[in-house]
Amino acid sequence: MKQTIVLKVDAENPDPETVKTAAEIIQRGGLVAFPTETVYGLGADALNAVAVAALFEAKNRPLDNPPILHVADAREVYTLAKEVPRQAELLMQRFWPGPLTLVFKCSNVVPEVTVAGLDTVAVRMPKHKVALTLIKQSKCPIAAPSANLSGKPSPTTAQHVYEDLNGRIDAILDGGNACIGVESTVVDVSVDPPMLLRPGGTTFEALKQVIGTVKLHPFVQAEQELSVEKARSPGMKHKHYAPKAEVVLVEGAVPAVTSKIQELAQSYMLKGLKVGILATDETQTCYSADVVKSLGSRFNLAIVAQNLFRLLREEDAENVAVILAEGVPLEGMGLAVMNRLRKASGYRIIKA
Ligand code: TXA
Ligand code: MG
Repeated sequence: MKQTIVLKVDAENPDPETVKTAAEIIQRGGLVAFPTETVYGLGADALNAVAVAALFEAKNRPLDNPPILHVADAREVYTLAKEVPRQAELLMQRFWPGPLTLVFKCSNVVPEVTVAGLDTVAVRMPKHKVALTLIKQSKCPIAAPSANLSGKPSPTTAQHVYEDLNGRIDAILDGGNACIGVESTVVDVSVDPPMLLRPGGTTFEALKQVIGTVKLHPFVQAEQELSVEKARSPGMKHKHYAPKAEVVLVEGAVPAVTSKIQELAQSYMLKGLKVGILATDETQTCYSADVVKSLGSRFNLAIVAQNLFRLLREEDAENVAVILAEGVPLEGMGLAVMNRLRKASGYRIIKA
């Protein structure tokens, strides 16, 4: 067991001395969790192969799933990537810093373990003072997957990180809540046209406004397990975002969804199972079950995204056996929300 220290910092105005303590840990090859605008990341010096190997170990992460490299200056891309296509430059200008990760052909400065043996590298510049200050002070790109145990919902608070990783990492920079709540959008710009591999904090619609054509990888909207060979992004094929409870996702028009969920809740409860429901503000009062929580308004999917991982963890903490979740529209942030919910359900999807 490691001693994990928790360092509190102001999200807007982080104390440089506190961040320096964390940066020194990174420079020594240690592991530091830190807030970003999407979710908390678990950071290691991306150019230190030993540190990155320890990062995989701490998360129990499969070695074939590379982390994202976080930079504090967009110009770093020209060192990490072998080539930077014009479309990537347009996306960087428009969305960096921010919740967009770009996959490039990899240069040879990045150790093999960091890219899990692939010939591409994923890079992003986060929009969070604590993350940016940490990267600058560490003087290296920081490899950072989400700071959860592999397979668990991503952490949106330092407390979530602590629950998963206390004793396994050196430090947690606690900068409060991650405001977007789902991870960055991953776009492969090593292919033409660029391909969206994971929906996230930057919407598909916004990407298309900047570069016109963007393809959606079939995994993004998959309603069932797709074969592994089709996985362009290694993370796609691993079980993800799953709480302990079984998740059942009910999709369709709202009235049909609410009556189906209430019917399922009744039948599970008759079997003596504790039932949780992930509802929305508009439907919350339609249900009676052991634990009913609202993700937010159906008319504000950004808020739904913000609450999603926290509520999956909260339902788990109530020890429910089943979580019945409402589907939301696949537009805007809804695409990322539905991608996470479908994966969390292990594709137990009911069309109402
Ligand atoms: O918002 C985020 O992206 C957060 C914060 C901490 O920045 N990070 C995050 O990292 O979600 P992680 O490791 O949980 O997810 C990274 C995703 C995985 O699906 C991985 O397979 C994909 O990016 N990825 C990484 N390198 C890749 C590459 N070379 N080609 C394709 N996909 C890649
Ligand atoms: Mg993750």
